[in-house]
Amino acid sequence: MAWGLSIALSLCAVASAAPATSGDIQPDEFRSRREALRKSLDGVMVLFGQREGLDVVFHFRQEPNFYYLTGWTEPGAILLVTPAEETLFLPHHDEHAERFLGKRSSAEDANAHQATGFDRVLGVEKFETELDGALSRFAKFYALSSGPDRVKLQARYAFREISDAAPPITKLRVKKSDAELAAIQRATDVTIDAHRATWKRIEPGMYEHQLSAVLMSVYLDRGCEGVAYDPIVGSGPNGAVLHYFSGGRRMDRGEVVLMDSAAECGGYASDITRTIPVGGKFSKRQRELYQIVLGAQKAAIAAIKPGIRMGGEENSVTKVAKDYLNSHGKDTHGEPLGKYFTHGLGHPVGLQVHDPNVDGPLEAGMVVTVEPGLYIPEEGIGIRIEDVVLVTEHGAKVLSAALPKEPDEIEAALAK
Ligand code: GLY
Ligand code: MN
Ligand code: MN
Repeated sequence: MAWGLSIALSLCAVASAAPATSGDIQPDEFRSRREALRKSLDGVMVLFGQREGLDVVFHFRQEPNFYYLTGWTEPGAILLVTPAEETLFLPHHDEHAERFLGKRSSAEDANAHQATGFDRVLGVEKFETELDGALSRFAKFYALSSGPDRVKLQARYAFREISDAAPPITKLRVKKSDAELAAIQRATDVTIDAHRATWKRIEPGMYEHQLSAVLMSVYLDRGCEGVAYDPIVGSGPNGAVLHYFSGGRRMDRGEVVLMDSAAECGGYASDITRTIPVGGKFSKRQRELYQIVLGAQKAAIAAIKPGIRMGGEENSVTKVAKDYLNSHGKDTHGEPLGKYFTHGLGHPVGLQVHDPNVDGPLEAGMVVTVEPGLYIPEEGIGIRIEDVVLVTEHGAKVLSAALPKEPDEIEAALAK
């Protein structure tokens, strides 16, 4: 295809040498996460790592809570944690499977401790006996609340109450360490380069999926695992479809295109949206609506500091954004615009693009998106501006600030 060549050419400018790694976090950090968990743990916690399908053609993805605590990226492992002890259970070698999937680690390997970062590594067949022993010492029992292994666990321990393991782990996950911030920043920097690459490439007559191709090419070219989520590239009326994925529409001069796309690098996600004019210039109405979304986003970011809530009617960043949208501009019926902002203002970002959240105010060290939008089907337009923001001691730091969002800057960047 002709455009494939053009994409390859447009990527020369962003090619670089960063190699793919299995993750950006060092083994010591996984160990200290488990130590932090054990300090507050009042019982026994069991986590089952992801199993793999029999006919694996997709990239293996570890269960995120399991990964957060272990860094372990091989399938079929089990983690048992008590306040006193932590044990990783590994499946045994399977020559046939390893011929397909590559060498795996196992408890009987001489380097099992070094490879896993665990002092106790046992074969999976010892799991039930070890769990029975742990449960005889502690009353409380935690496991994640879904998955086939959970059903088995509940059946085997029918008379034990099993509490959800997610909240105590989420409490740790919401505040990012320096290494996590570095990983999120790397994913963000690559994502910024990818958005810039689309700005160089875009022209009227292209199809939406061609911009998705540019984005994904940069992520892989820069040594990231790939996308943090499927790119959302919606032009014209498609911009008003919040999770629009099909990408088959031809884009024309006079329209804007909403691009919500980000990389996952070293296990960590970013999440950025920009809305740009296909032909290089915003129309008067597009610019007016764009400025209103941008104003709402800036007001929301300015309001971020420890103690304020993201959502809710009072003392929330959402209220700041909504009030801005309702007090600037009008729809074609003379009505306020707030009703065209139809999703949440933001969410935590980390190992997952929608990282788990705690019900409470923002705290320093959290990373969240700020993503107001206006989606007006009647005008055939959707505009969203989304940045990734670190909550600091006194305010906020925009991790994706290097990607322009002022309309004049965007038009200048699009000028060919
Ligand atoms: N990319 C999905 C979101 O913005 O939440
Ligand atoms: Mn988002
Ligand atoms: Mn997004």
